[in-house]
Amino acid sequence: MCGIVGYLGSKKAYPILVKGLKRLEYRGYDSAGVALLNGNGIEIYKKEGKVVQMESIVPAEDSLATLGIGHTRWATHGAPSDRNSHPHYSQSKRIAIIHNGIIENYASIKEGLSKRGYTFQSDTDTEVLVNLIEDILIHADVSLAEAVRVALNQVVGAYAIAVIEEGNPDQIVVAKKGSPLVIGVGEGEYFIASDATPFIEYTKQAVYLNEEEVALISLEKGLEIRTIANELKRPYVQELAIEIESIEKGGYDHFMLKEINEQPKSIFDTLRGRLLVNQGTIRLGSLDEYEQKFLTADRIIIVACGTSWHAGLVAEYLIEDLTRIPVEVEYASEFRYRNPIITEKDIVIAVSQSGETADTLSAIKLAKAKGATIFGICNVVGSSIAREAHVGAYTHAGPEIGVASTKAFTAQVTVFITMALSLGRKRGTISEQEFRRLILELDTLPKKVEETLKLDAQSKKIAAAYKDVPNCLFLGRGINFPVALEGALKLKEISYIHAEGYPAAEMKHGPIALIDEDMPTVVIATKTEHYEKVVSNIQEIKARDGKIIAIVNEGDVDVTRIADHVIEVPEVDERLSPLLTTIPLQLISYHIAVMRGCHVDQPRNLAKSVTVE
Ligand code: G6P
Repeated sequence: MCGIVGYLGSKKAYPILVKGLKRLEYRGYDSAGVALLNGNGIEIYKKEGKVVQMESIVPAEDSLATLGIGHTRWATHGAPSDRNSHPHYSQSKRIAIIHNGIIENYASIKEGLSKRGYTFQSDTDTEVLVNLIEDILIHADVSLAEAVRVALNQVVGAYAIAVIEEGNPDQIVVAKKGSPLVIGVGEGEYFIASDATPFIEYTKQAVYLNEEEVALISLEKGLEIRTIANELKRPYVQELAIEIESIEKGGYDHFMLKEINEQPKSIFDTLRGRLLVNQGTIRLGSLDEYEQKFLTADRIIIVACGTSWHAGLVAEYLIEDLTRIPVEVEYASEFRYRNPIITEKDIVIAVSQSGETADTLSAIKLAKAKGATIFGICNVVGSSIAREAHVGAYTHAGPEIGVASTKAFTAQVTVFITMALSLGRKRGTISEQEFRRLILELDTLPKKVEETLKLDAQSKKIAAAYKDVPNCLFLGRGINFPVALEGALKLKEISYIHAEGYPAAEMKHGPIALIDEDMPTVVIATKTEHYEKVVSNIQEIKARDGKIIAIVNEGDVDVTRIADHVIEVPEVDERLSPLLTTIPLQLISYHIAVMRGCHVDQPRNLAKSVTVE
C-alpha cells in the first residue's frame, strides 16, 4: 500500500512525480503529496484526496525543481487528512521523507524523541522515523545516508522510504524492507518508485533493492548500496520488459474493462512456451526442477489473500482431482498466526498478483523456516514473494492496474491447470488419453474466452436491471463454487452492493432465509455432474419468488426454462470452466459499478498491493 516516487536529474521533477503518482494510485489514494528541493530548501505540498486534488495547490515556480519525491497514501497510522499525508518534514525541516510500510515500534521511538524535545505535527509513524534520522544526523554528525542506515537499525517494521536533505540537491537516499522499491537508472538521471511504471518511458534499466538495503543515489557519485549492517553491495542493473502501452488505458473507459478484455491474450501468454500441443506435453521448468519434491509431497498448502485465494480454491479442486495430492487452501493471514504444522514434505504455494502482499509474504517466510518447499505464483516479476520462493511460475498477465483483480485471477487459474495436468501425468494419476484430451481443450481456451467476452452487451442489460439492489447472492458447486465467491467479491468491491458467495447446496442451511423478490441470485449452472442438483437449487429459489441470473452452457434447456436471465458460455471440460464462467460475472459487476457512478478502478478504502498486515 502507498505508492512512492522520486526523481533526480536535469528535468523538471514535478511533472514526472505527478504522472508517476497517478500510475501508482492503485496502491492507495487517500491523499497525495510531493516534496521539491529548490533554492529555498524543501517545499512540501500535500492534500487529502487523489493526486489531482494535490495538483491544484502546487505553485508554478516550485515546479521548476529538478529533485523531488512524491507519495500517494493508503492510511495506516492516522486518518486520511492533509496533515497525515506524506511527505513529512523533520522538526527543523532540514530533511523530508516518504514512506510505504509500517514502523511497528514507533511509539517507543517517539517517546524517546519527545523526551529530547521533538514535537510532532501528524499522527503518523513516518514522522517519527524522519525525526529519528534527523536526531542521528545532528548528534552523530554523519552523512544523510549513514543517518538513515543507523536509524533503520533501530526500526522494527516494514518500509520503502526516500529521504531528501536541504542543501543537497544532488542526492536521494532510499531504503527497503518488506515494501517494494525500484531505482530507474537513466542517462544522468535517476528515478525511484514502488514499481517501474512511473519511469518506464524514460529508462528500462532498473535496480531492485533487496531487503534491508540502503542506497545513496547521487548524480555525482552514482549508486552506492549498503545493507543496514553496513556491507557494501554491487548494484545489479536489469533490463525491464514492460512496454508503455501495457500501462495505459488504450481507449477503454477503465483499466478494469481493458483488463477483462485482455484475458484471451493473458491466458494465451501464460500458456505460451508451457502448453506444447504439438509435442503433446506441458513444460513447466520449475515443476521439472522440483519434480522429486512434488512427486513425494505429503500435501500442498496454498496460501493467498483476496482474489488470489479464490484462485487457490479452484486449484484445490484441480490438484486433488488430477494428482491425488491432498491440498489445503489457507488465508495467509490466518495460516501464519495459528502455529501451523508444516514439515519438509510439504509444498507451500503462494499465489499473489503483486507478489508483495504482506500476509502472504510472511506466511511463506514462516513455512520456509520450517523446511517446506515454497512455490510462488506471482504476476509481478522480481517481486518480494517471487524472490522469497524457492521456485515458481509467473503468470504472464501483464501489468494489472484496476484494483479489482480480473486477468490476474484467470492467469493464476491457468498456471494451476498446467501444474495439475503436468503433475497428474508425472504421478500417473491421469491417463495419457485424458491428458491429451485436456491439453487440446486447454489450447482452445483463449479463443473461447474471446467468444465469452461477446456477452458484454447482454451482461450490461442484466446490470441495468439489478444495479439498485442492496444485496445479491452468488451460488456455484464444485470447481465453480470459488467462482461464485469471486463473483460476489467483484460485486462488493467495486459497486458496494452487499454480496455473498455460497456453495449452491449450502443455501438451504441459511441464505435461503434471505430469498424474496428483491434478492437476486447469480447461479453458475453449467453442464457438470452437479447440474441436476443445481437445477433443484434454482427451483427452490424460484419457489420463494427469488430472481435468477444463470450462467449456463450454450443450448441449455432446463435452467433456461426457469431462470429470469441466462448467459450462455461455451461448453468446456468442467475443470477448465472457471476460465469462462468468471468472465460474465466480471462484466456484470463492472457495468453495475459504472451505472452506480462508482470509481471502478479505485474503489473506496481498497488498495491493490496490501503491504500491511
Ligand atoms: C487486495 C486487492 C485484491 C487482491 C488481494 C491479494 O485486496 O485489492 O485484488 O486479490 O489484495 O493481492 P495479491 O497481489 O497478493 O494477489
